Amino acid sequence: MKRVDDFRLRFGKRELVPIVIGGMGVDISTAELALEVARLGGIGHISDAMVQTVSDRRYDTKFVSEKLKKYKANVASSDKSDVHFNLAVLEEATRNHVGRTMEAKRGDGMIFINCMEKLTMNLPRETLRMRLSAALDAGIDGITLSAGLHLGSFALMEDHPRFRDAKLGIIVSSSRALAMFLRKSARLQRLPDYVVVEGPLAGGHLGFGMDWAKYDLATLVTEVLAFLKAEHLDIPVIAAGGIFTGSDAAAFLEQGVAAVQVATRFTVTKECGLPDKIKQEYFKASEDDIEVNTISPTGYPMRMLKSSPAIGAGIRPNCEAYGYLLDAKGNCAYIDAYNREVELHPGAKKVSVKDKTCLCTHMRNFDCWTCGHYTYRLKDTTRRLPDGSYQILSAEQVFHDYQFSTDQKIALPD
Ligand SMILES: Cc1cc2nc3c(=O)[nH]c(=O)nc-3n(C[C@H](O)[C@H](O)[C@H](O)COP(=O)(O)O)c2cc1C
Repeated sequence: MKRVDDFRLRFGKRELVPIVIGGMGVDISTAELALEVARLGGIGHISDAMVQTVSDRRYDTKFVSEKLKKYKANVASSDKSDVHFNLAVLEEATRNHVGRTMEAKRGDGMIFINCMEKLTMNLPRETLRMRLSAALDAGIDGITLSAGLHLGSFALMEDHPRFRDAKLGIIVSSSRALAMFLRKSARLQRLPDYVVVEGPLAGGHLGFGMDWAKYDLATLVTEVLAFLKAEHLDIPVIAAGGIFTGSDAAAFLEQGVAAVQVATRFTVTKECGLPDKIKQEYFKASEDDIEVNTISPTGYPMRMLKSSPAIGAGIRPNCEAYGYLLDAKGNCAYIDAYNREVELHPGAKKVSVKDKTCLCTHMRNFDCWTCGHYTYRLKDTTRRLPDGSYQILSAEQVFHDYQFSTDQKIALPD
């Protein structure tokens, strides 16, 4: 039986270990994690989700408090249409994050950035254009377009000098979505360099409805491979979602994908941005502790631990500080849900909002514990320490386990 290391992901003359660590916002897939994966010869992702707050935390900038100061008078208002991002600040924060990560890069691998279209930021086109161009300016190796259809995203980059040299890819959950994207960007004469096919067992937002369990990754991959063959298109396909062992990965590579994208196994590594206490929650989880729900204001189902503090919390919308999910008119589904509860409970000091969550604030504070379906198997990937906690892994160990293991084995840490 083959193992992952028998395969290589090829971009032109460049050869990589065919393991991609998926983007995990907000700074769960850190620069440290991406750098380690690049050192090991694979592809790591950083994320540009809430990049201003990430820059503040990492580089001592004050972007969030400055934005909050500017819009302070609006905090108690339910109308957020005037709350805007300063594009120059957004550019600076993105350049900070990407530029410093790329400067630190060593080894033969690559570092990509995950850009979610659903971060509409009260000015969808302009903010996305700025995020993409700033990341390209700052030297990112590639951009993975995710969480959204991205039908116009290639066009937003077409005048950038790196449009044809940076690696550009898209995440889809059906061959239909891929066909739509290709039709829409045909005029640009520029195909994606890779297509990530993400199945329903992934972490984060899902590209399916609440009937996600009807779908499976192997079938989706077969459909996409057949579609590309029928269209005579030679685009590397990357399979993602629920690939838990090196043998799972090798089986997809034998099926014809060029690489696998994985994330859940890396949530319990030292380099991952989740605080250690939360990594222990991931280790401890059983299958019953995980759910797919609809509390994300984006409208996409999202998988998370049922014990996430974000579920049922009723904090005041924090759009003056963050506001990443405000649509073009300044609306967010959480604002409506929150205002409804406040009206229903006049005089209450605190309300609980069950159907939606203030995703910006809770992701920023690591209170929304989004995770992949197989999180409940993480405890089988490590050792128990004398105090009952689980040993945090290193990214190198997990990466090598994917790269070299066979027979569904998982190598435990020393
Ligand atoms: C904690 C966590 C956060 C994630 N956040 C994002 C994200 O911000 N953007 C995105 O496109 N995918 C996100 N994902 C999906 C991963 O990038 C990846 O494609 C998927 O989880 C792979 O499946 P696996 O976790 O079963 O290995 C996230 C996954 C996890 C586990």
